[in-house]
This record gives sequence, C-alpha cells and structure tokens, in this order.
Amino acid sequence: MKLAIIGSGYVGLTTGTCFAEVGHEVTCVDNDAAKVETLRAGKIPIYEPGLEELIKKNVAAGRLKFTSSIEEGVSNALVVFIAVPTPPQPDGSVDLSFVERVAREIAGVLTDYRVVVDKSTVPVKTGEKVRQTISRYNAGGVAFDVVSNPEFLREGSAVADLMKPDRVVVGTESPRAAQIMRELYEPFGAPILVTDLNSAELIKHAANSFLALKISYINALSRICEASGANVDMVAEGMGADHRIGRAFLNAGIGYGGSCFPKDLSAFIKISEDLGYDFNLLKEVSEINRGQRDRFVKKIRDALWVFREKRIGLLGLAFKGNTDDVRNSVAMELAQIFLAEGAEVVAYDPQGGEKALQIEPRLKLAASAEEVADKADAIVVATEWKEFRDLDWAAMRRKVLSNLLFDGRNLLDPQKIRALGFEYHSIGRS
Ligand code: UDX
Repeated sequence: MKLAIIGSGYVGLTTGTCFAEVGHEVTCVDNDAAKVETLRAGKIPIYEPGLEELIKKNVAAGRLKFTSSIEEGVSNALVVFIAVPTPPQPDGSVDLSFVERVAREIAGVLTDYRVVVDKSTVPVKTGEKVRQTISRYNAGGVAFDVVSNPEFLREGSAVADLMKPDRVVVGTESPRAAQIMRELYEPFGAPILVTDLNSAELIKHAANSFLALKISYINALSRICEASGANVDMVAEGMGADHRIGRAFLNAGIGYGGSCFPKDLSAFIKISEDLGYDFNLLKEVSEINRGQRDRFVKKIRDALWVFREKRIGLLGLAFKGNTDDVRNSVAMELAQIFLAEGAEVVAYDPQGGEKALQIEPRLKLAASAEEVADKADAIVVATEWKEFRDLDWAAMRRKVLSNLLFDGRNLLDPQKIRALGFEYHSIGRS
C-alpha cells in the first residue's frame, strides 16, 4: 500500500520506516528541507537502536523516500498520516497549530479519496476538527475519511514496539477507512481494535496517564518503605507478580521525564477540566513525581551539607536509558539544581552528552563513566543505563574523594556496593 507520513520527527520517521520494512511504499514528508537532505544522505537526526539500518535498507529497496513537498506525498498515497509536533502551551493545553496547518495543506492538494490518519498525540475531538478543516478547505469536494491511530512507541525501543505492537487502535466511523487500516496493519500480526474517533484519542491519554500513575504509585510507596524499613523493590516484585497488576512500570526512582508523560499528563488534566471534570488523581500523580526529585536532592544536600565548591559526578543525562533524548529529563534538572547552587557537575551519558551540553553549557562532559568518579565529592546515578550497573565499582571507589553514592534509579545492589566502602543511598530501600 502507498503511504505518506507528514512530519519526520521521532514518531513519523520510525513509523514510516517500519511500514516500509513490512513492504509498504512510504513517502516521508517534512517541511524542514535541511532535515530531508540529511535523511536522503542516509543520516538520521536521532539515536534509536536499529533505526538507521532499517532506513538504509528500505531506502535502498526503493520503499522509503523523503521529500519536503506535501503535494508529492499526498498524490502518491492512499493513506496520509499526520505526525507533526503537538507542543505544550504554558497553561498545560496542547498547541494544535501544526496539525491544523497540515490539515489545510492536505485539503489543498486532494484529488482523490484519501484516508487521513492522526498519529500525533492530540486531545479528544481533534479528529472531528481535522475532518471539518479538510472539508472546509477541500474546494473540489473530494471524498476522504479521518482516522485516529495513536502511537504507543517508547523511545529506545521504538522499532521493536512498532514491529510487534501489543495492539493497534483505529478510531473511525467509516467502514471503508477501517478496512484500509486493517490491510495496512495486517503484516504486523497484532490485534486491531476498531473504535469511534473520540475513544481512540482518549485511549492514548488514558494509557500514558495510567503508566505515569503506576510510577507515582510505586514512588509514593517508596516513601512508606523508607519510613518503615521495607524494601520497595521487593514490594514491587510481590505486587507485580499478580498478573492483574504486572511488574512493568513499578520501578521506583527519581520520577518520570521525557517528552511524553509530563506533557500528556498536563494535557489530560486540562482536557478533563475543559470537559467539566477535575482530574485530581492525575494532579497528585504529577505532584508525587516532582516530589521524588526534590526528596532526592534533599538526601544529597543533607549528606554533602553544601553544594558550593563540590564536584558531583553525574551518571546519566538522558530521561531514561537507551536514548539520547535529554528533553524534560530529571537527570538534567538535577544537574541544573547542583549548578545553580555552585557545584561543579562532571557528567557522562552513553548517548545524550552532546545534546545535554547544547542545553546546559556549564556541564563538564566526562569521556567515560569511570572518569566522573575522579576526585568527586559524590556520585549520582540519574539515568537507568544498564552499563552503569556493570561498571567496575571497586575502581570507582578508589577514584572518589568522598565515599558518597546516590542511586536515583535503584540500579545497584546495596549490599555489594556498601561492601566496597560506599555510603550508599537509593530510593525506598532503607
Ligand atoms: C512513553 C510511553 O511508554 C509510550 O507508550 C508512549 O507512546 C510515549 O510515552 P517514553 O516517554 O519513550 O514512552 O518512555 P517510557 O519508557 O515510558 O519512560 C518514561 C519515563 O518514566 C522515563 O523517564 C523513565 O525513566 C520513567 N520510568 C519508567 C520510571 O521511573 N519507572 C518505571 O518503572 C518506568
């Protein structure tokens, strides 16, 4: 099937590539001509395991191409995906101006029936607006359908999430569009859930908010564990073994970050408010999340006494492991708090260092994880990179100035680490 994906950001690029991988013919459109040139040259602007190889393979096979012309994309495709950014606004609501503009642009070049699919994370009822907008600007009255097809990919495992989805959600009132979407997704072999447009849009917000809620729940429990002498990892194991609960997203730590959860939560709170419901539960989820970071900073402050003139070795800058994305990263927030209080921050991240330096030039980047220990007054683990767990911690211990180690992701084994002589602090493991 022939597809166009409007917007070659994180979601658009990985989605388009995976559709090409299963045999569809995909045109990725982006209005950033420089980005299109970069992609045509076989370079990709983001770090995502497995993506670069797949792009090269599918470009070579003639199934994946890039253009900056919406007209070219739409005229060559039966299904047109909208995958443009939906950034947050100061009041927590979502800026839909890119979606609206693309809807108008698609309408302007429609010559034949198309299925227009919204992939961007949008508030409920956006699909209806997209449908109205296309109708209004579609001078020739060409037939089209609008579908909501939310994306559930996680950064760092985006290719696997797309190739083997738990489910595919298709929201539309049109049987014709639903059938086309079934054929499109058939090669992935995943269950396809067809709903109305509004329900599909709500599923995305509901799912992300629930995952954030799970994280805040275990983080709240971590406080009870600290106060009572229990171990939050064991509590998570015991709870998670119940298949109705599940172990995933019960890792206590310094809280969630990234470009999805914080934004989606604020948006869902605002959407609910606009619909007449005060979603206090989700406000508390955000509050607990913020509190985790602040409590962690307090632990470090209590031990270091003052930050000024201290050298802090920071392990991790990305918002989670396996990504170079440092946007809304709790690790970055920690670095900025330490810097603001006069500490020197020597940081290492396997992928995110350069992007972090662009945002925070006061950081000193170490060439390796081992190097952050050099004469450090404290080591802080802020991102759950597996390689931090596997470091030679005995060698790290020999390099540090003081023996303080703060593990914000519960990556390390307290007994083994303490046996090396570290004063070890983690989350919810008293
Ligand atoms: C999330 C959703 O998982 C995905 O389905 C959606 O499409 C986009 O948003 P992503 O933001 O890439 O994906 O990352 P995710 O793996 O969900 O992690 C989000 C944050 O939660 C990270 O900062 C991570 O460190 C944190 N987290 C995750 C925890 O603190 N504890 C956990 O148990 C799991």
